[in-house]
Amino acid sequence: MEAPAYRQGQKEGCRQAPVSDPELAPERRREELPRGRTLVVREARPTDLAALQGFYRELEPEDIYRRFFTSRMPDDTFFERLLAASDQGGGCLVVEVIEPDGSTSLVGEADHQPASGAANELGIVVGEDWRGWLGRYLFDALLEDAAAKGHDDLEAYILASNRPMLSLTRAHHHVLVGDNDWSVVRVVVGTHSDTPVWVDDGVRPRVLVEVPGGHWHAAAEAERAGLRVLACPGPGARSETCPALHGEACPLAEEADVVVVSPRQNDAEWATLLEAHERCHPGVPVVIDGRNRATVQGRVKLPADDHEAIVALIETVEATSGCQSEESTSKGSAHE
Ligand SMILES: CC(C)(COP(=O)(O)OP(=O)(O)OC[C@H]1O[C@@H](n2cnc3c(N)ncnc32)[C@H](O)[C@@H]1OP(=O)(O)O)[C@@H](O)C(=O)NCCC(=O)NCCS
Repeated sequence: MEAPAYRQGQKEGCRQAPVSDPELAPERRREELPRGRTLVVREARPTDLAALQGFYRELEPEDIYRRFFTSRMPDDTFFERLLAASDQGGGCLVVEVIEPDGSTSLVGEADHQPASGAANELGIVVGEDWRGWLGRYLFDALLEDAAAKGHDDLEAYILASNRPMLSLTRAHHHVLVGDNDWSVVRVVVGTHSDTPVWVDDGVRPRVLVEVPGGHWHAAAEAERAGLRVLACPGPGARSETCPALHGEACPLAEEADVVVVSPRQNDAEWATLLEAHERCHPGVPVVIDGRNRATVQGRVKLPADDHEAIVALIETVEATSGCQSEESTSKGSAHE
């Protein structure tokens, strides 16, 4: 399997990729700044190589670590890949500041490139002096770039301790992909709306899990069994971006084969979310993860800690489409 893109710049001896056509390096955004300066976001072009390398060399070791999960500076291959991203099904944007005398400096870079997952993988860095707003601004421009190129979702590998980056993706209602460990999270953001969609990589059943924090205890087992798992962190600080909680259909739930809800015990918002899924997506079975021992009367309840049984049950639920069969696993027939 191909390595995640964030590690690819660290590999030695990769082939040199073709560079982008300079004619295809349009400007995306322009802002007039105080003291006669201008900020421009545009697609990277081959002549940016030295400025890009200089920009990365100036970053603090912690920023390099957050970007690459190693303190080693990326090698030339990394920069060649950035500049070739548009030709390889991705994109690379740079932020340039133009001084009144016409001199320029590069203060940010964001890219998305094909990698091991179904969606392109994104990376972003903003110079320390420019943080506080530019991250969000550049991130939005990157999502626009990806959407314009036909990508519905982007993925990112983020250190669990990288709060600014997690804030950026969370603001776009990120969902977590499959099995996340506690040090690195793999998130997906939608490029068109606040909610991602399933990228059709042919893997089914698609299991959408609503679980506090987005960490589902059965994710690894489910992935090993060939299920595709996306996890939403459920109600909480970002409730405003959850369509189901606003009585609207959620594109992820609508296209899922089963929704698993692992509610917080005695939490009214979680109970509302559970009912919202059943009401807004009537064709999609909703099952309760028994681990949190919430009230599940009249609903399918997953066994608490038997992961294999969970996977088997999800597959049965999916096979009985609509969950209306007479089997004991069907919605409405399984009681606690
Ligand atoms: C990630 C990065 C691009 C964000 O850029 P930024 O300009 O700092 O972005 P913002 O200022 O808009 O901050 C983003 C969010 O993080 C929050 N934030 C910033 N610093 C924070 C901190 N120390 N602790 C917690 N949250 C923080 C902001 O409040 C904001 O949250 P909000 O949208 O809910 O208000 C920038 O921090 C960076 O370049 N980091 C180093 C490289 C990196 O980590 N890349 C990501 C790996 S792909």
